[in-house]
Amino acid sequence: MSRSAHPAGPRHADVYPEGHYTAPATDLNELDPKVWSRTVTRDADGALTVGGIEVARLAEEFGTPAYFLDESDFRARCRAWADAFGADADVFYAGKAFLSRAVVRWLQEEGLNLDVCSGGELATALDAGMPAERIAFHGNNKTVAEIERAVETGVGRIVLDSFQEIARVSHIAQRLGTRQRVQIRVTVGVEAHTHEFIATAHEDQKFGIALADGQAAEAVRRALTLDGLELVGIHSHIGSQIFDMAGFEVSARRVVQLLAEIRDEHGVELPEIDLGGGLGIAYTSEDDPREPHEIAKALSDIVTRECESAGLRTPRISVEPGRAIVGPTAFTLYEVGTIKPLEGLRTYVSVDGGMSDNIRTALYDAEYSVALVSRTSEAEPMLVRVVGKHCESGDIVVKDAFLPADLAPGDLIAVPATGAYCRSMASNYNHALRPPVVAVRDGQARVIVRRETEEDLLRLDVG
Ligand code: LLP
Repeated sequence: MSRSAHPAGPRHADVYPEGHYTAPATDLNELDPKVWSRTVTRDADGALTVGGIEVARLAEEFGTPAYFLDESDFRARCRAWADAFGADADVFYAGKAFLSRAVVRWLQEEGLNLDVCSGGELATALDAGMPAERIAFHGNNKTVAEIERAVETGVGRIVLDSFQEIARVSHIAQRLGTRQRVQIRVTVGVEAHTHEFIATAHEDQKFGIALADGQAAEAVRRALTLDGLELVGIHSHIGSQIFDMAGFEVSARRVVQLLAEIRDEHGVELPEIDLGGGLGIAYTSEDDPREPHEIAKALSDIVTRECESAGLRTPRISVEPGRAIVGPTAFTLYEVGTIKPLEGLRTYVSVDGGMSDNIRTALYDAEYSVALVSRTSEAEPMLVRVVGKHCESGDIVVKDAFLPADLAPGDLIAVPATGAYCRSMASNYNHALRPPVVAVRDGQARVIVRRETEEDLLRLDVG
């Protein structure tokens, strides 16, 4: 059914040169389950529903733009990761992808641990009752105050990122009369096939201590000799939105080699290795992510094999997926505003949000999908660029996609797979009010992060 027959722009067949952009072979009304959260479906009238609730109702109640998070999908993904890795490994959800008190409670209920990388994330985790021993604290430049708080509250591990930090944490732990469990983050020299800004295991960057030229071995020497530290393992995170397991395998192999060198030099077998996060998700139908059980098997096979050949006991493995858990569980709902057809090019579809609620397209050239969700349409596909309302021409949400040519102002469109790094990287650019996150489950919707208000903005502006 069609809510409006408003002709919005040039038809695909009229204007796009053969072979340049190919209109999708599939029906635009079809939802690819790869990119949508698990309870998303279309009802008999063709409107999208999530957790049993129609989007138009959600838009009425919560407004747009807004993120809708499929809670049962989030919980199912947590369980899938926990089950895949089993009792001999630990899954730490990377809170930077998206963190709120509700999320922290879900993680506890589903048996996951939490990786935080700032005082703010640590405060959220502790406030929501996450036991400190289930928290890992990351960051390349943790402040003294952050380290003190982490040590005082008894976080399970601090991941040391530099020589200075090894000394700093040692001093603070001694001053507080305790011994802090730590891991050392190493850079293993893997070039992960992902965007430069989210690749982290090559040596020329700010994170970690290089394995090459003996830096990591020297860091281990210091951590083993300084008081106040209990070195429990080695950590490696190679980057983000990675599909190819080869990088993880190289990383695991190099970390195990380091464990063997540590055993040979110090007679100590460190009991843990953490292989970080970074597993890719489907943003478009082209992406083919791995399932947690495949990832768990690949990582545990390689670690077991390498340890056997080095004569080491297999250490306890941990991983830190963020995007792979929360990314697919949410979509952003927008209302269509201005529609600007450009003859021979594309149609610009402006929505009521933009780079302030999803910076990833502008920052990483990220690709997203989009669908008309308040109705179905039989109109032919129209090549669109979904743009925001900000004063910046790079304010693009979806660079190239197809929407039905009868798209009209007032239609609701949704961008799936926005659960990770969208609300958590949202800004107030142009004094935009950051959208709410609404958790939907079994016919119930509740705000877990409310929409910002003008009062919120003005409260910070103290004149
Ligand atoms: N562990 C460590 C040490 C990390 O630095 C990260 C991500 C993760 C785990 C989780 O990675 P994930 O599984 O979510 O890919 N803003 C970028 C991503 C930055 C990731 C930073 N660290 C984006 O939007 O793609």
